[in-house]
Amino acid sequence: MDLLSLILYLFLTITLLQVFHSLRQSKRRSKLPPGPGPLPVVGNLLKLGNKPHKSLAELAKTHGPIMSLKLGQITTVVISSSPLAKEVLQKQDLAFSTRFIPNAIHAHDHYKNSVAFLPVSDRWRSLRKILNSNMFSGSRLDGNQNLRRQKVEELIAYAGKCCQDGVAVDIGSAALATSLNLLSNTMFSVDLANLSKDSGREFRDLIWNVMVEAGKPNLVDYFPFLAKIDPQGIRCRMTVYFEKILELFAGLIDERLKSRELQMTNIESDVIDTLLNLSQEIDRTHIEHLCVDLFVAGADTTSSTIEWAMAELLRNPENLKKAKAELEQTIGKGKLIEESDISQLPYLQAIVKETMRIHPSVPFLLPRKVETDVVEVHGYTVPKGAQVLVNAWAIGKDPSMWKNPTTFMPERFLESKVDVRGQDFELIPFGAGRRICPGLPLAIRMIPVVLGSLLNSFDWKIEGGIEPEELDMEDKFGLTLQKAQPLRAIPFHIGNYLDLWRTLLNSCIITKNLGLGVRAAERALSIDADDGATHILLTNLYAAAGKWDEVTRMRRKIRELVLDKDPGLSWVEVMDAIHAFSSGDQSHPEIDELQGELNRLKGNMMRFEIDEI
Ligand code: HEM
Repeated sequence: MDLLSLILYLFLTITLLQVFHSLRQSKRRSKLPPGPGPLPVVGNLLKLGNKPHKSLAELAKTHGPIMSLKLGQITTVVISSSPLAKEVLQKQDLAFSTRFIPNAIHAHDHYKNSVAFLPVSDRWRSLRKILNSNMFSGSRLDGNQNLRRQKVEELIAYAGKCCQDGVAVDIGSAALATSLNLLSNTMFSVDLANLSKDSGREFRDLIWNVMVEAGKPNLVDYFPFLAKIDPQGIRCRMTVYFEKILELFAGLIDERLKSRELQMTNIESDVIDTLLNLSQEIDRTHIEHLCVDLFVAGADTTSSTIEWAMAELLRNPENLKKAKAELEQTIGKGKLIEESDISQLPYLQAIVKETMRIHPSVPFLLPRKVETDVVEVHGYTVPKGAQVLVNAWAIGKDPSMWKNPTTFMPERFLESKVDVRGQDFELIPFGAGRRICPGLPLAIRMIPVVLGSLLNSFDWKIEGGIEPEELDMEDKFGLTLQKAQPLRAIPFHIGNYLDLWRTLLNSCIITKNLGLGVRAAERALSIDADDGATHILLTNLYAAAGKWDEVTRMRRKIRELVLDKDPGLSWVEVMDAIHAFSSGDQSHPEIDELQGELNRLKGNMMRFEIDEI
């Protein structure tokens, strides 16, 4: 073969190979999931808007439960249905287990040491094992729950102070400080945040700033060639925050090592002791970065869920009333909730699930990335290097899975076995599969304990006289889904004030002081318009004063309350009240009528008593 033929032969081979390659590429591309047509350079970036969870849910209505977009240079596949979430997170778990690494996480090489961003590897498995068996196992959590109990007491004391001063509590901010302290006490047996506004904010602000930076859309993530420039300065600021946080943890670890040396003992009082005792399995750098992960992943997710739950309850007084009634009956009014009480509070648990369904704190889970050459899902190809977002927000509102999906209805979980633990793919606020949130066992203890204690210790009114139905429920997208307008609510010692007005009302019945009694009743009803006991006392006052028209009106109102407003008021109580009058020496047709009603109700009594039991 002469030289010319050889060149021609090579040229032909390369051309054929190129044609073959581009044919293969285009075939692969043609099997990409459907999606909106991309613009030059920016692709579909502009479609995201400032609420990508909502805009992608909307796009999925047109393009389907698996769709692909081009975000700058990054092919992104979005999953928006529970069967496909199951496919990606469970059936083909391994292929989708690598994380997409945001550039911000390159600060301090965090991604190389972080359990949340390491690929599935021996190092990652070892860190997960340490977390599962040494931090989040049932026995470990039982063992250190006393460290957390005290933090809940402090939150309630803080709310008590706000109550005394008549000022509102910023629920999200107080819950964040409490979550940070719940974590810092579980890990280091120290407080790292302070509930009051001015002091001890530095750590809280640092964690908050990390969340803010990590949640900002970063051009570098869509155009990786910009990495060196860091045009928005996100990685640069993140480096400063990480440095301060790592320094703080390093100091705490040094202190602990010193005190262990002095006491010459390696007893395990908290997580840091445990980790130091595992020096064969985890080195100092990994301990420090693990701490960063736990605070960043654990604090804001927990506190925003508490804030959303409170907001939903303040907006839905009927649900709030049921929650309070359950707490009062099971725990006793005014008491703190223990972690061991949670299993006896199905309605409170249902509230937490319903909150996580409507407001999942991590709406796209933590983004995944495909590392295998070709992955097939639902007949489509997910190409190597693609970012994969699972829209847990959209899945929780899928009308084919959920009746009235946008309505807050905790009752839906009372009869259902659907849970948040990663087995029911219509509800995956903690993700699923091997990368499921390891902090789940702690979160599902902390959230009901804090929420239940806030509800059982106070009554709450939204600041500024805002009516429940007017409460702004808009969200703000970031690393976690925040409430756009922080919830500010004023705590009331309902028990005390209500009791006070009721006591006065009672005295007015005896002294037949109608004017004062009615005013006392008005004050009591301004705290709780549907309070059954106040209505009964008021009826008695009217009867004592011979105001029979009013008695008749009240009787209707009480009947209405018993039927559907005040779950704490039973027929038995109503009958007692009626009986108290009818057995007195007064005589009036109204009393005869009440007696008649009593007799009629007696037939129902057994049934209602049984229902109540
Ligand atoms: C309401 C509370 C919480 C929610 C909704 C939540 C949600 C999530 C989600 C969605 C993921 C990603 C899962 C996936 O990709 O499938 C995750 C990962 C993670 N979470 Fe949580 N989380 C919460 C609380 C916590 C707590 C309290 C901690 C620890 C103190 C924690 C530590 C982590 C860590 C370390 C990861 C990374 C796991 C890995 O990549 O292997 N989380 N969480």
